[in-house]
Amino acid sequence: MKNQTVLVLDFGGQYKELIARRVRELNIYSLVKPANISVEEIRAIDPIGIILSGGPNSVYDESSPHCDPELFNIGIPILGICYGMQLMAYTLGGKVSESNVQENGVTNIRISSSSELFKGLSDIQEVLMSHSDKVTSLPKGFNEIASSSDCPVAGMEEPGKRLYAIQFHPEVELTVNGKKILSNFLMDICGATQDYTMDDYIRTQMTSIKEKVGDKKVLLALSGGVDSAVCAALLSKAIPGQLYCVFVDHGLMRKNEGDEVEAAFRDFDLNFIRVDAEDIFLNELKGVTDPEQKRKIIGRLFIEVFNEESSKLHDIAFLAQGTIYPDVIESGANNTDNIKSHHNVGGLPKDIGFEGLIEPLRTLFKDEVRKVGTLLGLPSNIVNRQPFPGPGLAIRIIGEITKEKLEMVREADYIFRSELEKSDVKADQYFAALTNIKSVGVTGDHRTYDYTISLRAVNTSDFMTASFTEIPYDILGTVSRRIVNEIKGVNRVVYDITSKPPATIELL
Ligand code: XMP
Repeated sequence: MKNQTVLVLDFGGQYKELIARRVRELNIYSLVKPANISVEEIRAIDPIGIILSGGPNSVYDESSPHCDPELFNIGIPILGICYGMQLMAYTLGGKVSESNVQENGVTNIRISSSSELFKGLSDIQEVLMSHSDKVTSLPKGFNEIASSSDCPVAGMEEPGKRLYAIQFHPEVELTVNGKKILSNFLMDICGATQDYTMDDYIRTQMTSIKEKVGDKKVLLALSGGVDSAVCAALLSKAIPGQLYCVFVDHGLMRKNEGDEVEAAFRDFDLNFIRVDAEDIFLNELKGVTDPEQKRKIIGRLFIEVFNEESSKLHDIAFLAQGTIYPDVIESGANNTDNIKSHHNVGGLPKDIGFEGLIEPLRTLFKDEVRKVGTLLGLPSNIVNRQPFPGPGLAIRIIGEITKEKLEMVREADYIFRSELEKSDVKADQYFAALTNIKSVGVTGDHRTYDYTISLRAVNTSDFMTASFTEIPYDILGTVSRRIVNEIKGVNRVVYDITSKPPATIELL
């Protein structure tokens, strides 16, 4: 049975996938399509509602994206957001004023709570505005339903035709009741029955993977991270036995990590190839102290080792990647099929010439990927893993990397993580790093001259900024005692209390 669908039309705004995600959160299927899609195509999709996204243009720019004006006559409820509102007003005979002045940031607006769109909300609402042009005269038949001091028409409606529009962004968290507004539109105005789940997502993806791949073989570089792991699980369910996963163990993993990744896939029907490349990586990293140099060497070796291993496989038709939506935004490849220069597979497809690329997680956000992974039966230690950088422990050792230092940082990290996971402390990323500092200490009657371990734990939602986690002293005390008692070569432990900025999360 077909799910009810909400169509998001893309006018170039950075939040279009976020809109689609908000719709999915309400268990409604959503699809993002280019703004210039024809009305016939829209009728074929048969959406229960359409959302016009924001966008950076002015409706008066010749190059700005427009939609078929007929769209507003086909009887499907429409919600225009930001540029989407301006376009609706402009197309239907209202007036949009150009302005060089931006209204950016969180603003209080006054709303008309009698509008179906704002049902259940109080008169004053905190919303995110991000625009310069604004609607200054309503199209015929429309009412004004929201206003702010800088924006006399911050919302408008023509309830008879079920056309609604808002100048602010309901999809972002900064708009306090954004989810409620979207829910009012989707549930009350579009009549959504919430018939879509992540299981449906998995089923749809499996069908399209099967159609694309047929009986051919697919190759995937497994890094041990959440995204590639979930991608592998999904592919193995869609095309059992046809997936080849190459897991390059660079020897810079955390304690037991390589084995955990291997164990997680034991019950999946795929070909798991683990390459023990520790010696290759450590040899090339010998004497290297510069952080960027370390990253470059590791990136290059990843490709070399992966290429060598995959060249032993024959008849591979497709390359799969665990690209997720934030990667697509970061690489600026929003509307293209460009391949992200991922730290482990950058440059691969050009070198090997596959028939095609498979990226089944491309429209999902991280938490959705975790949900898919859980539904597919991946263990929690893989699905709920904290971020771990591609270059691994190499960027958690200041100075030269040696086997001994790796062993020290690996054990310290394991102790710190175990103690924190036993506690109630909530941190988004937490790890130990080995500073290159040696200092004097005393053990029993002996003077020591050993290394200092630095502990780091941060709270963050986007990893762009972060604050250090306030870990209680007793937990820090236990971790410190265990580290100096259990790890030879370490006689001092410090806790990093810098936020980002000015520090970064990693030490290198
Ligand atoms: P920074 O240290 O820049 O880290 O504040 C932000 C987030 O990115 C991760 N990170 C990396 N991830 N390759 C990666 O795959 C890298 O070279 C790398 N450097 C940092 C870091 O762990 C944190 O989550």
